Amino acid sequence: MWSSRRAAAVPGSVFSLMDAAKSRARGRGLDIIDLSIGSSDLQPPELVLEALRQATHDPATYRYPLFSDTQPLRDAAAAYLKRRFGVTLNADTEVLPLIGAQEGLAHLLLAVTDPGDSILLPDPCYPPYLGAVAVAGLNIVTLPLLPERGFLPDLNAVPDDANPRVLLLNYPNNPTSAVATPSFFQQAAQWCRERGTLLIHDHPYAELTFGDYRAPSALEAGTAGVVELHSLSKTHHMGGFRVGFAAGDAQAIAALARVKGAIDFHPYLGIQYAAALALGLPDEVGRAGAGVFQARRDALIPALHGIGWEVQPPQASMYAWARVPNVTDSLAYAVRAAEQTGVALSPGRAFGERGEGFVRFALVQPPEQLREAVKRLAEMKE
Ligand SMILES: Cc1ncc(COP(=O)(O)O)c(C=O)c1O
Repeated sequence: MWSSRRAAAVPGSVFSLMDAAKSRARGRGLDIIDLSIGSSDLQPPELVLEALRQATHDPATYRYPLFSDTQPLRDAAAAYLKRRFGVTLNADTEVLPLIGAQEGLAHLLLAVTDPGDSILLPDPCYPPYLGAVAVAGLNIVTLPLLPERGFLPDLNAVPDDANPRVLLLNYPNNPTSAVATPSFFQQAAQWCRERGTLLIHDHPYAELTFGDYRAPSALEAGTAGVVELHSLSKTHHMGGFRVGFAAGDAQAIAALARVKGAIDFHPYLGIQYAAALALGLPDEVGRAGAGVFQARRDALIPALHGIGWEVQPPQASMYAWARVPNVTDSLAYAVRAAEQTGVALSPGRAFGERGEGFVRFALVQPPEQLREAVKRLAEMKE
């Protein structure tokens, strides 16, 4: 009785089935190698933790943070976007702190759309997008992400009558780990401007890039009609801190601030200070974690190739997206793998229909555990 149509429309998750499979494996005494959760297992930089510790001793941080109190984080975010992507933003009108990118997206959709509007949504995608879209009451126009196109959408294939209010993109991508070029974002932004569509780019993996590769920002294509969501969850291993920021189109940011003003009070000031400090760290400190994920990639991918799996080495993100040989039901495969071998993966189907046949490995264990996981998968019975 006490569930709204909006609440009922939020899709359930297949991850509960994976949890049950892990519990059964644990019950049988198997040690679990959990590669199913995309949460960084690394520590935030010590300086960042120290800033937070200090802040908790300062009574001035205990009150509700007002918009004016968010200035240090807004300034740090604007300085980071300038330094990293060459993008100039007004920290007062074009940047807003978030309680994580996920919170930001859900509220941004409420702020810039009306129920019944259409959204272009990639398939596969980060599953909470579907919940945010359901809460906002939007119609989904699916953008298939296919391996033959490097998991980039074909905007020319969008029907002329789709009339999308929003195009939602995410590169480096979860779950496929695909990356996009600056010219892809230029084209996407141009496509959106021609149609009066807002381009939202979810960018939590901006700094989890490997070797010489550096991920571009959609804001390099201009800020009008573009909003980008940044997070410190992955890049600075601060997932539990719940902090990020939105940047871009001033009207969209103002609408987001209005909606958020009815709902929350910005992150705790100490977390804002810690995040501001993290964004200003020199590359060798701020990006140290990326090297750890790269080393894990370099352990996992050759091991998978060694057992005949088809998988591209990711240039960024904390995932590998692999087609499972001779498997059409990725959920049944992932449940079987967890139960038989203790290796927990995310079934591709959990990310959308186009994810079927794939599994996602999260690079959240050390190299030897990743090699051990592949060994166990190779020995799995049908
Ligand atoms: C694509 C994508 N967006 C957003 C998030 C969540 O970010 P945050 O912790 O800032 O809410 C994740 C986390 O896995 C993600 O993969």
